[in-house]
Amino acid sequence: MTAERAGAPGPDGTVTAEERAVGTGTANPGGAPAAAERTAGPPADAASASLLQVADLSVRIAGLHILQGVSFDVASSGVTVLLGRNGVGKSTTLRAILGLTPRNGTATGSVRLGGEEILGRPTHALVKAGLGFVPEDRCVFAGLTVAENLRLAERTDAPDYDLVFSLFPELSKRAKQRAGSLSGGQQQMLSLGRVLLNSNRLLLIDEPTKGLAPKVVTEVAEALERAAQAVPVLLVEQNLAVVRRLAGDAVVIAAGQVAWTGPGEQLLADPALTKSLLAVNAAGGH
Ligand SMILES: Nc1ncnc2c1ncn2[C@@H]1O[C@H](COP(=O)(O)OP(=O)(O)O)[C@@H](O)[C@H]1O
Ligand SMILES: [Mg+2]
Repeated sequence: MTAERAGAPGPDGTVTAEERAVGTGTANPGGAPAAAERTAGPPADAASASLLQVADLSVRIAGLHILQGVSFDVASSGVTVLLGRNGVGKSTTLRAILGLTPRNGTATGSVRLGGEEILGRPTHALVKAGLGFVPEDRCVFAGLTVAENLRLAERTDAPDYDLVFSLFPELSKRAKQRAGSLSGGQQQMLSLGRVLLNSNRLLLIDEPTKGLAPKVVTEVAEALERAAQAVPVLLVEQNLAVVRRLAGDAVVIAAGQVAWTGPGEQLLADPALTKSLLAVNAAGGH
């Protein structure tokens, strides 16, 4: 194991886990200035292949500088996973993209969707423009039935119930059941189903497997995998087995900045790197 070297600054010339990752992946433990000094970077066609471009995003809330110049791209297909230790600002990033930074906070920098600047636009306009959000706490209406929850989420004249029920047959079977009586996994599926009813350009999904039993985690991961064939996803996910299954690109946030970007496979193949950035063991899962 090389885990003990993880996070070492390497002033004596030793190669740190982060530095070893530079090549196809990009380590940036020191923030933006360090990135500029490095020769390795994202592929030249990354910008044209990306759907969403986040550049120098800074978020301050209640005097805290939570995001300090976060930059990354979201691919125009598949799943881009956003990772990082608890409290680093993953949810804050999704919320800033969606115009949901709280009123006592500010979000500056740039977020482009399909080349168009969207930072600062109101959330309702972004939802209309095709950003679908599945928040961390699921937010189903507990007192309403599954069918009523879905009806309330319809934003078009032709909601895609075929897609939703093919991904989540359980929702069709439980249409008349009150959402509050569903299991955590079923509530997550309802939350995903509500967003998938409408046509989206990009889904932002925050920790969909958090707190779920392992069997349900697998079901949700399978559903996400199929959903991602229909629409690109920016996914916050801490369960590395799920990351392994779904991730195309991975973006790791640490200390308010992007600490690493590259193929998810490459991140997970390096236990020392995973441990230093996420404080978890890739081999052992979460
Ligand atoms: N509305 C808020 N008011 C004050 N602090 C906040 C608020 N939202 C987030 N934070 C703080 O910002 C940091 C990042 O939070 P969050 O984005 O939820 O982290 P993550 O999703 O990576 O676990 C945390 O320290 C959290 O306490
Ligand atoms: Mg979060």
